[in-house]
Amino acid sequence: MTITKNHSVVDLAPDTKAHLATQAAQVLRQNDMGSWTKAAPDLYPHQWSWDSAFIAIGLAHLDTRRAAKELRTLFAHQWKTGKVPHIVFNPDAPPDSYFPGAAHWACAAASPDAPFSPPYTSCLCQPPVHAIAAHRIWEAAGDEGARAEAHAFLHDIYPKLLTWHRYLATVRDPEGSGLVTIYHPWESGTDNSPRWDDALAAIEVGRLAQYPRRDLGYVSDPAERPTNADYDRYLWLVKLIKRASCNDASIHETHPFLMKDVLFSAILVAANDALLEIADLVGAPDGDRALIAGWAERGRKGLDACWDADLQLCLDQNVRTGRPIRSSTVAGFAPLISGGLAEERLKELLQTFDSPDFTGNARLRWPLPPSTSPESRGFYPRSYWRGPVWPVANWLVWRSLLRAAELDRAAEIRRVSLDQIAESSFAEYFEPFSGEPLGSPDQSWTAAVVLDWLLGESPKGARAGTFSTGRATDLDLL
Ligand code: DGY
Repeated sequence: MTITKNHSVVDLAPDTKAHLATQAAQVLRQNDMGSWTKAAPDLYPHQWSWDSAFIAIGLAHLDTRRAAKELRTLFAHQWKTGKVPHIVFNPDAPPDSYFPGAAHWACAAASPDAPFSPPYTSCLCQPPVHAIAAHRIWEAAGDEGARAEAHAFLHDIYPKLLTWHRYLATVRDPEGSGLVTIYHPWESGTDNSPRWDDALAAIEVGRLAQYPRRDLGYVSDPAERPTNADYDRYLWLVKLIKRASCNDASIHETHPFLMKDVLFSAILVAANDALLEIADLVGAPDGDRALIAGWAERGRKGLDACWDADLQLCLDQNVRTGRPIRSSTVAGFAPLISGGLAEERLKELLQTFDSPDFTGNARLRWPLPPSTSPESRGFYPRSYWRGPVWPVANWLVWRSLLRAAELDRAAEIRRVSLDQIAESSFAEYFEPFSGEPLGSPDQSWTAAVVLDWLLGESPKGARAGTFSTGRATDLDLL
């Protein structure tokens, strides 16, 4: 990666790194609810699925037992189908703290597949980072006792992860394409990305009761969040999913929003690779291993079929229209995230990554990938997934570059990301040109990826966690 003159990137001094790690640990402690962590102090007062997985990755470097607990709590609310819900609602959160909250989703509990409630859950899901997190906890476990406990944790979580991945590979992919079908932009985790614009525009919204935009009360500018028109569509889709009684077969038949999401699918491939390692560690039967390896292979093939030679990116597919979604977003780097790329494809992807469409854009404050290409339709630098830079997306890219043996590039992403956060805060996302922190302050997953960057890589930090309840002993090691 070339760092141009516009980008004043300097490596952080050791004491700045130590300070940053201490602050990151404080953010997680402040959002800690005992057995799970709020995604953010006010805007997200419940347990979110993929946030929790990233949070566990960060916690792994502070206290591996607590990190394991984060995933145990989430998976205690797994649906009978294997689905891990995108939100587990905190029964103690004030009813007016988040919309749509538990009351809006209570009907999901009527589904024969729903877990015991309360607490209530949504009936959507989110990208499956969990196996990656579970494996990271194992890697972070230091002494013998911690490793024994981490091993017991892997034993407990492995069958749950397997049924979760089986649900995604079968129920969410009845075509056997290797690509996961999502039912709602919230399932993608990139809610208002331009990826979904055309499909949402084609949806005719029916009668909706008036509803509050509580999220807008927690950000300084409503432009940082999805629009009211987006929200009407989000809530209309929820209504249709509820009408289908959260039943997957009915949803596949009737639902207007069925998307093959390449980012979600690529994360599943990477998670299957992690699950294979866990399968080895727990001595799972050969049949399981063959199954998981088969899912990963099918996923890679499915992603390869979504390659767009013109945009040099991987494109989502609209199941309803059978057409690819031509949009230049960070999701287009999906094959990098799934890994196992042919040299030529990796080269092409990295060219796009370095181009003015992404990190080579001369206006960027830091050479980090904007969530949507500044050169593309639908880009808006302040709005959620339409342009801002997300540390958690940078972490995924960083990890994928490491897996692709692109070590210098990976080191650079890590260095620049830390510089970005050290200069401002643990924001949810950042304006790509000015670097202004946006969205929620003290976002848990931002703090978590900072901890992994600071403590996970260094030889001292890599074996940091202990199963004691002691806190952040490794911070002294920085
Ligand atoms: C939100 O509330 O913004 C979430 O992304 C929905 O899960």
